[in-house]
Amino acid sequence: MTRPPLDADPHRPQYHFMPPAHWMNDPNGLIQWQGTYHMFYQYSPSGVGSGIKYWGHARSADLVHWEHLPIALAPTPGGPDAGGCWSGCAIDDGGMPTLMYTGIAPQAQCLATGSPDLITWTKDPGNPVIAAAPQGFGPGDFRDPRVWREGDEWRCIIGTAAAGGCGAVLLYRSDDLRAWEYLGPLCVGADPSTGRVWECPDLFSLGDRHVLTISPIPLRKTLWFSGNYDGRTFTPETQGVVDAGGHFYAPQTLGDAQGRRIMFGWVWEGRSQEAQLAAGWAGVMSLPRVLSLRPHGALGAEPASEVAALQRDHVGHTGLTIASTLPAEPLDIVGDALRVHTIFEAGQASLTEEADAFGLVVRRSPDGAEETRIAYDSRSERLLVDRSRSSLARDVERETYAAPLTLAPGEDLTLQVFIDRSIIEVFANGRVCLTSRVYPTRRDSLGVGLWAQGGRVRVRALDAWAMASIG
Ligand code: FRU
Repeated sequence: MTRPPLDADPHRPQYHFMPPAHWMNDPNGLIQWQGTYHMFYQYSPSGVGSGIKYWGHARSADLVHWEHLPIALAPTPGGPDAGGCWSGCAIDDGGMPTLMYTGIAPQAQCLATGSPDLITWTKDPGNPVIAAAPQGFGPGDFRDPRVWREGDEWRCIIGTAAAGGCGAVLLYRSDDLRAWEYLGPLCVGADPSTGRVWECPDLFSLGDRHVLTISPIPLRKTLWFSGNYDGRTFTPETQGVVDAGGHFYAPQTLGDAQGRRIMFGWVWEGRSQEAQLAAGWAGVMSLPRVLSLRPHGALGAEPASEVAALQRDHVGHTGLTIASTLPAEPLDIVGDALRVHTIFEAGQASLTEEADAFGLVVRRSPDGAEETRIAYDSRSERLLVDRSRSSLARDVERETYAAPLTLAPGEDLTLQVFIDRSIIEVFANGRVCLTSRVYPTRRDSLGVGLWAQGGRVRVRALDAWAMASIG
């Protein structure tokens, strides 16, 4: 589908999913239905503010190219969702497409059933099917139902707040998706450091464990816990941040026919409200990520292999040595829609010759006035996205975001960087993700370079591709 008035916008991503215009936030109702992937999403059709929420809808054969479909859910005046249709999930109820979502306000859980093509939705006359949070939880925050089949019954988790300032996820059961019995808290935050309200919970098995993801207010990032689910409670054993780039939130997953656990998240903006209004759109979906369970119960993520279908002109280098170069050594790669895959060799020089920090620059102007630096700091063992010089504009965010990344002896650093105009989505060694936003002002901020500081680093291979638009 074309997006005529917005196509000239230099910040509008080209190969990440987004609605034709206006505001979007969370992915909702991710499901593979008779072979086709469906994505619903929080949508404000009336503008760029986060306003009253509808469910937008799109479908795809390959997780990458999407067909926009009519709005799936709209608030019903006088109904339990009169104030908005907030986040939720899609369910295959014995062949009947079903959505469970949060109606506003007050927050209560609602159902809708769909036509066989998932395009037309009818709200359940019994809505809301879960009217209020149980005593001691909520009461104002009680949302984002996530449903799965367990044995011969349905289970549902709902995000909320517990007394004492901790977030919580509540567990319910049902035989028919309409009458729900509260079973108790699935998991309550151990202390307020994991947030006071847990939004958008997701629970799934991965390897030999279960993983719970939650998006806590006010942390502005999503946490994962891996641990044990015994049918009643979830006991976290290990925890981490799903994406440390400061712009990835409220993800949801789906299990597909290939047995993959695929995650999409909302990538929010990093510029002023005025700039968003002027642009006419706000919010983008991340690339699809395939999750895995890594040693010691850590969550791993890689871009889905389907993304490679967008790769066009290729430039490759092998065996480069980068010695204390700042500014960066420019490469013969330019663009604002690129995939850059770089393998930095594990240190083989003597420690005194090894770089203290090294990495890539992207979206760099020829004079270096604008550039975004992706850095591995071997002293602090962190991967960073440094936006301090990403844009000459005044009204953009500039914080540097970092994730801990300890390399095992002899382990290379493999960086997969997706540049899509104002999005920088970084995957490192299958276990660290940093998604960030940058808004360069200059049309020639298109360069890519390599740099090292305090010594040298060897690049085993660097491969870059121009990425095709999905518009
Ligand atoms: C998360 C969230 C959800 C809610 C939705 C409303 O970003 O706050 O908890 O259902 O957005 O759009």
